Parts: sequence; C-alpha cells; structure tokens
Amino acid sequence: MTSGGFAGRIAAIDRSQLGALHYLGNYVRRMPTNLPRMMENAYDWEHLPFVHPQAFSSITIAEEGRWGWRAEAGLPAESGGGTQLIELLVDTAQAYWATTVVEGLGQGTQIHTQATDVSGGPDFPDAIEIDVRFYLPRAPQTSEQSAMILGYLQAQYAGLYDQDEALMVGRQEALDIFAHNFAGRASPNDPCSVSLGNEADLDRGIVHRVMLAGADYAVRHHAGEWIAHPAVCPHLLGPLADAPIADGLLACPWHGYRFPIGGGQETSGKPCTLGPAAAVSVANGDLYISAPRGPRHDHHTG
Ligand code: FES
Ligand SMILES: [Fe+2]
Repeated sequence: MTSGGFAGRIAAIDRSQLGALHYLGNYVRRMPTNLPRMMENAYDWEHLPFVHPQAFSSITIAEEGRWGWRAEAGLPAESGGGTQLIELLVDTAQAYWATTVVEGLGQGTQIHTQATDVSGGPDFPDAIEIDVRFYLPRAPQTSEQSAMILGYLQAQYAGLYDQDEALMVGRQEALDIFAHNFAGRASPNDPCSVSLGNEADLDRGIVHRVMLAGADYAVRHHAGEWIAHPAVCPHLLGPLADAPIADGLLACPWHGYRFPIGGGQETSGKPCTLGPAAAVSVANGDLYISAPRGPRHDHHTG
C-alpha cells in the first residue's frame, strides 16, 4: 500500500494537542505481566487480525520503526467492514503509547495508554497497570451518547486486553522455559527418545507433550497417523501445540505464520523456519518419539 494517507505525520507523540480533543473517559486494568512484554505487544501490529479477529480482519503495514508503526487495518464484515488507517506512536522510556485513527471509522479518535510497573511481593512478582484514555475529535451531543460510547470502548478494550494478556503471559512462560533450557538444566540430560506407552491405548483426541534433547514437541494424531512437531513457534514462541492444521500446514495463532508439519520455511516467505519433526515409531506396541537427526546424518547414504 502507499502511505499517502499518512503523509506529513510526525513520528513522535505530541501531548499538547490533546487539549483540542474531547476526553471521554478511561479503562484501567492490572495484568500479571511486565513492561517488556507490554511494550513488545504495543509494537506488534502483526498479531492484530489473529489474536483480535473480532476487531480486525487484516493488517497491512505501511511503515514502522522504534517510533511505532502505521498500517491499514481491515475491519470485520460483522462490524460493517471497511478499512482504517491506524498510527501507533510509542514512547518506550515512558511506557506510553498513542493510537490515532487517521482515516476510516472513528477518524480522529486517539487512545493514549500509560503502563506502570506495579509488581512487588512474592505473590505478585509480575504486574503492570494500564490506564487507557479515550479522546474523541469532538464531544458527543448528549451525556447518554457519551456514556454509551464510553461503555462500548471499555467493553471492547476489556476484550482486547483479555486476549493480549493471554499472549503476553504465554510468551513470558515460553521465554522462561527457553531460558531455563538454555541455562543447561534440561538439555544435556534430556532423553533423545521417549515412549508414550501402548499406542492403542493412547488418547488420539488430545495433544501429548514430550521434551527431547531440550526441545518441546507436540505429539498428535493427525490424518490417520501420529506426528510430533515442535510445540513452540520459532517466530515469537507462540503456542503451536494445538495450532490448527490445514493442507499439511500448522497455523500459529499469534501472527498466522504457517509451517509444514514436517518442519521447514514459513510458507508465505517470512524469514522464519520451523525445526524438523521428531521421528515417530512403534515397537512392541509402544509409541516412541525420537529427536530428529542432526543435519550431518541427513547426508548419510549408507
Ligand atoms: S509466534 Fe508469531 S507466528 Fe507464531
Ligand atoms: Fe493486542
């Protein structure tokens, strides 16, 4: 797309222009996550249509940088369709970001968010509070209208942050496991082969998980056979374990990257590769999952 609709915009938050807008009200929430995950989520335009399908049907990036991003978002048909040009400016040092609807439904609306670290104590090691403030280009005509629009926005943001909270908490857990494995506690002594027990008794309706040689695999029964693919997405550690499979491709729920179930390059050309599937075999009736062979073995022709 062209960025014509964004021409002439300044890539920095100007809070002085807020006085010209109508402050409608806010939405405040605490979440069991931390500022790095929250700021990462603000920059992450790519998750919008996948994690928030009720609010966005597509996203096409126009420009991005440490200053934030500008993109054209598609709106779902259920909510009237059409597109919006959205700008999100970030002030990382202040944990503050401002979203502006530059064009489309709600044009001129600005949403300013302040995140604050409120963690503390052994029971609450990770906690942030966000204050999401809604500004309209002009005041609604009646107080009933104001209350209705505010109620709508608060409900919409509650839903969006339910979804983002799940993503941020899931990603921190995945990062912690990753760091733990790389700290060397898990990998050297992990088995290279694991039995899941009698194949005939194994529940085909659920995803089984095994750790092999420091990596986490999802073992699932798909299209009449057992497969064992990496359970964690190589992009930002999204949950691939129960990702839907269509046409032999795993679709990550966080940003929609698609990978062959046997491993390999992301299919739409994103610079991202899923590691090889683990080997699956049956011996004496038991199902065995074995770590994929290293690349050196692939050239063995014996
Ligand atoms: S984590 Fe981004 S596509 Fe999987
Ligand atoms: Fe989000």
